[in-house]
Amino acid sequence: MAQRETWTSRVGFIFAAVGSAVGLGNIWSFPFQTASNGGAAFLVVYLLAVFLIGFPTMLIEFVIGRRSKQNAVSAFSELGYGNWTFAGAIGVFASFITLSFYSVVGGWVISYIVGSVTGGYLGQAGTFFGSISSGTVAIGAHAVFMAVTIAIVAGGVADGIERATKFMIPAILVLLVGLAAWGSTLAGSAAGYAYYLSPDFGVIASNFTSIVPSAMGQAFFTLSLGFGVMIAYASYLGRDDSLPADSAIIVVLNTVVALLAGFAVFPILAATDALTGSTGAGTAFVALAGAFGQLPAGQVIGLVFFVVLLFAALSSSISLLEAPASYVVDRYDVARPKVAVGVGLVSFVIGIVPAYGYVGLFNDFVFNILLPIAVLFIALFAGWVANRESIDELGRGTALGQGATTLWLWWVRVVIPIVVAYTLYLGVTNFYTGLTTGAYF
Ligand code: PHE
Repeated sequence: MAQRETWTSRVGFIFAAVGSAVGLGNIWSFPFQTASNGGAAFLVVYLLAVFLIGFPTMLIEFVIGRRSKQNAVSAFSELGYGNWTFAGAIGVFASFITLSFYSVVGGWVISYIVGSVTGGYLGQAGTFFGSISSGTVAIGAHAVFMAVTIAIVAGGVADGIERATKFMIPAILVLLVGLAAWGSTLAGSAAGYAYYLSPDFGVIASNFTSIVPSAMGQAFFTLSLGFGVMIAYASYLGRDDSLPADSAIIVVLNTVVALLAGFAVFPILAATDALTGSTGAGTAFVALAGAFGQLPAGQVIGLVFFVVLLFAALSSSISLLEAPASYVVDRYDVARPKVAVGVGLVSFVIGIVPAYGYVGLFNDFVFNILLPIAVLFIALFAGWVANRESIDELGRGTALGQGATTLWLWWVRVVIPIVVAYTLYLGVTNFYTGLTTGAYF
């Protein structure tokens, strides 16, 4: 087998992981989940989920990946636990399914870039969304998005992925700061900030069973956890980097981007009275395009916004393709470009289903069910099955003593499984209710 690639530097790894984390989840899903789940009340639960559950879970994936130097599936057998490969396989399956609908939404973004240039959505946000979100236009744009993703992944880890993300992440940050600054000048922005930032704890109490699974699913999705992606990325990492430090940087940067997206989106929604009406995959696009159609310089701002969204989506979709592709490359020793094309094509074909109006169904299946299941299993594995030698990978390259590792281990053993199992129970219940009440069909 060919020599395994590595990142060209620690910074290269961090950029790639942040590129994976920062995506449609931060800029599209986060503000709209927050808006439709009670604003700041959701934000509080979400931040708890990110830091108390997401951060330690990222460390699990990093430990497994760097220790084994394998993709998410082979990692478990490499560590000596061949009958746990299913835990990685669930994640790879989740990446694959997510890529199929992610690419459809990426295609929508491409259509909105075109619409910003031609003025296609001005004054008719709803009609425009209807015309591009399903059917042949959606499939065509989905094909374009997938083709670009395949081209980058075919180029390999260091060349394709590192180079693409080193350019995209700074661009996203700069553009979002600009958008947030513009948002602050809009009439009504104060109402937007208030809804976004001052929590009404009564809302948490009365909507607990819907806020918890949404916030947890959002936390896993946005941090790319439960997909095996972070296992695969850490497998290319040098032995002497500090996993906790890298993970902290990634979690904080990802959170900054999501919060910034909120600072851009909430004033826009408030300025056009669309603050609380937003739910579902499409309303986000309709509400924003509606706002861009009404606001001064909206068309230019819209163009900037959708370009940012496209960059963020691409730096994530490449990692969604990388997870299954690196598995096939390691396992069957086939050339990377061929694998990227093959896996990308199959995912494209599956994506034709969401491109016919089922993005919400795919999205909720991943958020509510696949991700909590995958995280539950890797936590049980790390907490109760893996030997201490593997667990000690956490402290390598750091000043952390055994005590810190043990503390983390107990958190992984007890707290994470209980919280995630409860989330999974709520997620399954809500998904089932959605299926039987016709929310998806
Ligand atoms: N984290 C990405 C987002 O927020 C989604 C993603 C998940 C990307 C898993 C890659 C792997 O959009």
